[in-house]
Amino acid sequence: MKWWFFLLFISAGKAQFDTRRFLDYWTDLFRPLPRNPREGFVPDYTPKNQEEFDFIIIGAGSAGSVVANRLTEVPQWKVLLIEAGGNENFFSDIPIFAPFLSLTGMNWGYNSMPEPRACRDLRGKVCFLPRGRVLGGSSVLNFLIYQRGHPEDYNDWARMGNEGWSYNEVLPYFKKSENIGVRELRNSSYHGVGGYLDIEYSPYHSPLEKPFKQAGEELGYEWRDPNGENLIGFSKPQATMRKGRRCSSSKAFIEPIRFRPNLKVTKFSTVSKILIDPYTKTATGVEFTKRNMSIQVRVRREVISSAGTIGSAQLLMVSGIGPEDHLLEFGIPVIADLPVGYNLQDHVTFSGNAFIVNQTGMTMNDLAAASPFVAAAYMQGRGPLTLPGGATGLAFVHTKYSYDVDQTRPDIELVMGAGSLAGDAMGILRSLLGVTDEWYRKVYQTLPFGARMRTFSINPVLIRPNSVGRLMLRSPNFTDHPRIHLNYFADPNDLRTMIEGVRMVQKIIGTKAFQRYNTKLHTTPFPGCEALLFDSDEYWECAIMQTSITLDHQVGTCKMAPAGDPTGVVSPRLKVHGIKGLRVADASIIPRIPAAHTHAAAVMIGEKAADLIKEDWGISTLTNKL
Ligand SMILES: Cc1cc2nc3c(=O)[nH]c(=O)nc-3n(C[C@H](O)[C@H](O)[C@H](O)COP(=O)(O)OP(=O)(O)OC[C@H]3O[C@@H](n4cnc5c(N)ncnc54)[C@H](O)[C@@H]3O)c2cc1C
Ligand SMILES: *[C@@H]1O[C@H](CO)[C@@H](O)[C@H](O)[C@H]1NC(C)=O
Ligand SMILES: *[C@@H]1O[C@H](CO)[C@@H](O)[C@H](O)[C@H]1NC(C)=O
Ligand SMILES: *[C@@H]1O[C@H](CO)[C@@H](O)[C@H](O)[C@H]1NC(C)=O
Ligand SMILES: *[C@@H]1O[C@H](CO)[C@@H](O)[C@H](O)[C@H]1NC(C)=O
Repeated sequence: MKWWFFLLFISAGKAQFDTRRFLDYWTDLFRPLPRNPREGFVPDYTPKNQEEFDFIIIGAGSAGSVVANRLTEVPQWKVLLIEAGGNENFFSDIPIFAPFLSLTGMNWGYNSMPEPRACRDLRGKVCFLPRGRVLGGSSVLNFLIYQRGHPEDYNDWARMGNEGWSYNEVLPYFKKSENIGVRELRNSSYHGVGGYLDIEYSPYHSPLEKPFKQAGEELGYEWRDPNGENLIGFSKPQATMRKGRRCSSSKAFIEPIRFRPNLKVTKFSTVSKILIDPYTKTATGVEFTKRNMSIQVRVRREVISSAGTIGSAQLLMVSGIGPEDHLLEFGIPVIADLPVGYNLQDHVTFSGNAFIVNQTGMTMNDLAAASPFVAAAYMQGRGPLTLPGGATGLAFVHTKYSYDVDQTRPDIELVMGAGSLAGDAMGILRSLLGVTDEWYRKVYQTLPFGARMRTFSINPVLIRPNSVGRLMLRSPNFTDHPRIHLNYFADPNDLRTMIEGVRMVQKIIGTKAFQRYNTKLHTTPFPGCEALLFDSDEYWECAIMQTSITLDHQVGTCKMAPAGDPTGVVSPRLKVHGIKGLRVADASIIPRIPAAHTHAAAVMIGEKAADLIKEDWGISTLTNKL
């Protein structure tokens, strides 16, 4: 009998049988081998009611995992990490499956409120807003793309009065986390070596990579390190990946330290409230539910909310920190009147276009057809399954609508995917985007099946948006999802810039490099836009509003700003204004969204937060390798 059969009996025989925990453990064992020795199952700990910790961290996401790792470097600090989800698994490890994870229980499953200018033709007229509910948070659902943004993005934060957050001050923290696996970049002053977070290029070179690079050259753009000195240009995405498998924040920062005696991780535990003494205005602990139990834990030093842009804002508000009038609507006693939930920013993308090539073997669906070989290659960390979310190319451009005088600052990013919505025969991408089957039939079934399989996409992303949304409570209960107004394209310049993005894609497709394959845009007009002249600016404006979706980069709901700035929720030391013993450390503190995917920034915020906490409690940070 196999040894694991024996273990199966033991765990099944345990007095209180819990299906989720059981699956949590067993799906972990089926992660493909060989496994890195640093990786392994994180033990689950259930705190006793009223148990006391030095620090309590809410959320084991991109940022929270980092904070937990760095704080437990101090042996005398007892730390509790509370996570609503369980372990990641075999499936979430595979980079190309990223888009499908949002359809699983690892997603909180938030929806936006109906949007006037985006997602208009999507199911229910709302945008889906996936967020990770799993150890590793959204870094388990995300498309693995590792991108930091432009130096001036961070200098802007500092110019807003956030001392300590200029590019030169945050770059060391980006590098501290990083272990760049690309040989020729290991001596670059922009990359770190020896950190916990593995960054590499997908080892797979899709057949579209070369024409993409050549198209860039034809248009006068250079092929670059996407996190190097210059952003404007074409590149291959760098990814949070370890030997071809996803390297989530949990795998990077929690698993290697899972046996530190001063770290306790409680999974399947959802915090419903941060406990704050209304007289001393000091955080005293948190209340959470695990299975059917309600548990309160107390804190000696600080509570750190790393529950993400949606979770942190919602938690602060249900705990009495938020806009006074809004909290009073729900009868929540106000402890601090702060603008929580405002300043919601995001990157929106237009992903409806499909480009058809005249050869087989170029795009994702053709690659999938060779599945036995593909699976075998993956077991060795190679092959098409290692493409991060299916992305094979990135470009950053500066359009004529950019309000940045600085020509080195991009306002549009282009992401090339090895497949497209047209090739979504099984309906999985459709479910992810919220596109109805009827829409798919009308737009794409005008193409024969073979042609649909020979399609790929290049999606423009609006990376310097001006439109700002707001997150509001639906009820005083954390289990009720908040009302999220994304407000995409409220600023007309955002829409103009996006159309410029579509035009830029058309230029790429028009290059000799892509015309070698007679590459063509699929031209069936989108439902609701048929009356407009196809390919006019008016047509694209309509198409963009019908089907634009989020790139899942929501930030900003607990904005960082110095005391005295009425828009600020946390200080530049990430302390909630007016409250003692409570910080926020995740993407929600971002005052202005960087022109990049946001995971790298969230990890950097976790690193910096841990050092701020250590400094404030008189622990030397000098021993840190920077
Ligand atoms: C589908 C998708 C694709 C993306 N693609 C990319 C990409 O390619 N590149 C990139 O850089 N970024 C990408 N992002 C964005 C990026 O992953 C996020 O910006 C980043 O992970 C945010 O980190 P965070 O720490 O703020 O929050 P999260 O990582 O979301 O962490 C929050 C954690 O808190 C937990 N939590 C929340 N509330 C509670 C509670 N009440 N009690 C207990 N636990 C709680 C959650 O379960 C979660 O684990 C993507 C995101 C998604 C969803
Ligand atoms: C890194 O090494 C390569 C050669 O391996 C060299 O071309 C490059 O200039 C070096 N870069 C730096 C920043 O030292
Ligand atoms: C939780 O459920 C179990 C089994 O259903 C039950 O035995 C236990 O008493 C419950 N605990 C609480 C706190 O309700
Ligand atoms: C919040 O809602 C959940 C699910 O609807 C319910 O079980 C719980 O009792 C509610 N909590 C409060 C404080 O009302
Ligand atoms: C694809 O189109 C190009 C340009 O029109 C042509 O040269 C090439 O032969 C075509 N290839 C196939 C397989 O039809």
